[in-house]
Amino acid sequence: MAARVSTPAFLAACRCQPVPHRPIWIMRQAGRYLPEYRALREKVDFATLTRTPELAAEVTLQPLRRFPLDAAILFSDIMTPLQGMGVELDFEPAPVVRVPIRSAAQIAALPALVAARDVPFVLDTIRLVRAEAPRAVPLIGFAGAPFTLLCYLVCGKPSKEFAAARAFLYAQPQAAELLLTRLADAMAEYLAAQAAAGAQALMLFESWAGLLAPREFARFALPAVQRTAAALRRLDVPLIYYVNQGATLMEAVAGLDVDVIGVDWRLNLAAVRAVLGPAKAVQGNLDPAALFAPPAELERHADAVLAEAGSQPGHIFNLGHGIWPDTDPDAVARLVDYVHERR
Ligand code: CP3
Repeated sequence: MAARVSTPAFLAACRCQPVPHRPIWIMRQAGRYLPEYRALREKVDFATLTRTPELAAEVTLQPLRRFPLDAAILFSDIMTPLQGMGVELDFEPAPVVRVPIRSAAQIAALPALVAARDVPFVLDTIRLVRAEAPRAVPLIGFAGAPFTLLCYLVCGKPSKEFAAARAFLYAQPQAAELLLTRLADAMAEYLAAQAAAGAQALMLFESWAGLLAPREFARFALPAVQRTAAALRRLDVPLIYYVNQGATLMEAVAGLDVDVIGVDWRLNLAAVRAVLGPAKAVQGNLDPAALFAPPAELERHADAVLAEAGSQPGHIFNLGHGIWPDTDPDAVARLVDYVHERR
């Protein structure tokens, strides 16, 4: 008889099932706060790292060798599949698009993404990680949410206000909707290919949701995410939607057909859960700055997150946004152990 294998805690929590301990992983857990990542980056530029499966798999696994994390996340970038669609961009280190997309003609000329043809190295990375990662540590595949990708494509580079992207929504709403539809379909294809290659959960990053008023979020960002989510529903893979600065958007995202909503530290998890209801899990939401607190204080801040999340199933501990590059890895080690001990 086959040995009984239990569902990893992270996947159980995604499905609001009971867990033996509170699962934790860290947004941007593979990256510059790790000396071993910086050592590799001295020799290899970021784009090459993401395009070389052996190296991307190695960087994906680096944080797992240090900390008993409950999930791995593919090492790549939200802009990588757009590069595969022929959008020329540089990482400086943030992505900079050489020719921003601002006209209907440019949108019409964007080719559809065929993941196996355009970004085979991402799928090969996933296969390598799955062969090497411990079985209890599921691999998260990811993509940028359509509106967040639109922000980069229209503005060309990161900015506080993403003024050109927001102006584009008002000046050319039909073109914006067309671009969002194209991106939604491309990301559905991309994420389905990641799942087929072995990704056990899929995450959409809506890093710039907080730029939009609820009305514009509901008109532009939400239908595009829903389109991607609907296309992935037939797969038996949990879907996570991370919404940065989404305090005014929770009622809108409650209706999305996804399993988990990730939120930043500005929201109270108890209030978020009350709006989302018992069928959706939540992920978050410690302020990345809390990792700079003295050890005992860091534990109190982790306690506050756990208390707000409550004891009902369906919470994945995480930061509210990506870990900062100047964070001490020892603080991450203490946080992971503490959250596990608290169960
Ligand atoms: O560990 C992980 O989380 C996996 C790897 C990952 C990267 N980017 C690697 C990366 C993930 C999940 C991303 C997603 C991503 N990329 C997002 C969504 C998440 C978020 O933080 O809101 C966004 C908005 C981007 C765009 C991007 N790429 C920015 C703003 C930057 C530069 C600044 C930064 O935060 O690092 C990048 C480059 C990038 N992506 C780096 C890494 C490790 C740094 C590149 C380097 O080593 O020089």
